Amino acid sequence: MSERIDAGPAESLPPGERMVVDTPKEKVALFNIDGTLHACSARCPHAGGPLQDGFLRGTSVVCPWHGWSFDLCATGDDARDGVIRYRAAEEDGRIVVYLP
Ligand code: FES
Repeated sequence: MSERIDAGPAESLPPGERMVVDTPKEKVALFNIDGTLHACSARCPHAGGPLQDGFLRGTSVVCPWHGWSFDLCATGDDARDGVIRYRAAEEDGRIVVYLP
């Protein structure tokens, strides 16, 4: 069963923007890329850099500290890079993140 986290009103995260939200599990970085919400660990697995401040290349976030890149859409073996991807969605005007 997943835990539903309300991260605030949808208008607080328009396309092209990002934010970070505290959850019981960890800080989660949220990105609105072309109208689609993506969520992942905010802490880079290399040395703890802030992924919410990273550069975006398509659906990849590039850590601002040393340039490691993480595809937010990666699944399976491609997602075994130390960054947890979370399901995020807009529901009834709210941003929702689901923790496993
Ligand atoms: S801390 Fe992210 S690449 Fe080094």
